[in-house]
Amino acid sequence: MSSPTVSAEKERFVRISIHSHIKGLGLKDGKAVLKGGGLVGQLKAREAAGVVVKLIKEGKMAGRGVLLAGPPGTGKTALAIAIAKELGEDTPFVALSGSEIYSAEVKKTEVLMQALRKAIGVRIHEFRRIYEGMVTKMDIRFDRHPYNPYQQIPVGATITLKTKAEEKTFQVDEGITAELLTKGVSEGDVIWIDSETGKVTKLGRSSEGPSKYDISSARLVPVPDGSIVKEREFVYTVSLHDLDLMNARSGSLLSLLFGGREEKEIPPEVRKRVDETVREWVDSGKAEILPGVLFIDDVHMLDIEAYSFLSRAMESDLAPIIILASNRGFTRIRGTDIISPHGIPLDLLDRLLIIETMPYTKEEIREILKIRAEEESVKMDEEALNLLTEIGSERSLRYAAQLLAPAKVIAASRGSNTVTKSDVERVKDLFADVRESAKYLKEYEESFLK
Ligand SMILES: Nc1ncnc2c1ncn2[C@@H]1O[C@H](COP(=O)(O)OP(=O)(O)O)[C@@H](O)[C@H]1O
Ligand SMILES: [Mg+2]
Repeated sequence: MSSPTVSAEKERFVRISIHSHIKGLGLKDGKAVLKGGGLVGQLKAREAAGVVVKLIKEGKMAGRGVLLAGPPGTGKTALAIAIAKELGEDTPFVALSGSEIYSAEVKKTEVLMQALRKAIGVRIHEFRRIYEGMVTKMDIRFDRHPYNPYQQIPVGATITLKTKAEEKTFQVDEGITAELLTKGVSEGDVIWIDSETGKVTKLGRSSEGPSKYDISSARLVPVPDGSIVKEREFVYTVSLHDLDLMNARSGSLLSLLFGGREEKEIPPEVRKRVDETVREWVDSGKAEILPGVLFIDDVHMLDIEAYSFLSRAMESDLAPIIILASNRGFTRIRGTDIISPHGIPLDLLDRLLIIETMPYTKEEIREILKIRAEEESVKMDEEALNLLTEIGSERSLRYAAQLLAPAKVIAASRGSNTVTKSDVERVKDLFADVRESAKYLKEYEESFLK
């Protein structure tokens, strides 16, 4: 029997974000290719990241973490995303910025705890009894609304389902009838009815059913095999945090799919109960644990309390792999007077594999900008790219990349679809980089505020 995967899939529209060009680490037999997976250069770091991916996949990273260390704009976040892509959709990947733990409403350790638990997936296998078949006949019975005689309401239905093996007629109750109506089920559709909840799932139009339309967007599916009533395995992947929320609301798995009130803080006894339940499921073969990755960017924003919480969490058997990124050298650990490498306490540093990212050469910056231009559908002539590369190496890669979109707008305003050198000069003049804007404010402060 096939096992359909039901995952809580969110609608996603393609959005061009600053890392959307990254598809993977671009490795071949463990070696980094000059340009691959959307990445350019940074070969050693990419190969090291490849080793980490292997370790994670083989389950050998437990209790350990990774620190990506390097100057701003050297691809630390990009590498973390590439690692996530390499691990695949099935591995939960949660990203958090160090400063996000400081919330007015939730304790720092609670923010971290939730992030840690979001990064642990639980794949649940569930067998459910369903009715499956092509609808060959459907009659819905209506009756008068008890309080409103002018309104007709559905009270039940007679439905005939057909598989390749049999055809049967069922009387279904009000709840299932309402489901059939809201899902817009009609004769010729292939459906499932969950025997327990009465939930109806429309799989598509039967390729053998009557076709009402010449053109239709409905998915064509074959008439199912076997008997109408069957046990079917469903596989859901949820996170420990999802289970926490569900239990805190004392809801069902369905409330997870349909959403509900967000809990600000989850009581520890709820988490304990969830952990116990999950362990039972794992022991009985009903579920598997999928340890994911928690990525904490700008980790130097964490303070000593957060660090010790994190160190402790890494020891738990239900801990995700932790990837940290920092662009600080020796600096004070927040909340203390201790100076430490990257502002990270030594006991935590001891558990980390450190990957360094190096500044890019001009040629690499040029290649990265070319990839970004393509990603953002910006056409550019040679001179414009040269100037942008210059800006990228003198100012910053991020600043140069940021100028791409406005340069396209400037080019368009003079009726061209190709960015030229003068368009780049214009946007460079219009938009300041961080250094400029900070310097300007400092001068302003000095001349006006004193
Ligand atoms: N080696 C690379 N190949 C392709 N794009 C890169 C590479 N390194 C960085 N980038 C891109 O350059 C920009 C800045 O990199 P980022 O990862 O934000 O740097 P960091 O996190 O180290 O400050 C991002 O848009 C990133 O996707
Ligand atoms: Mg970053």
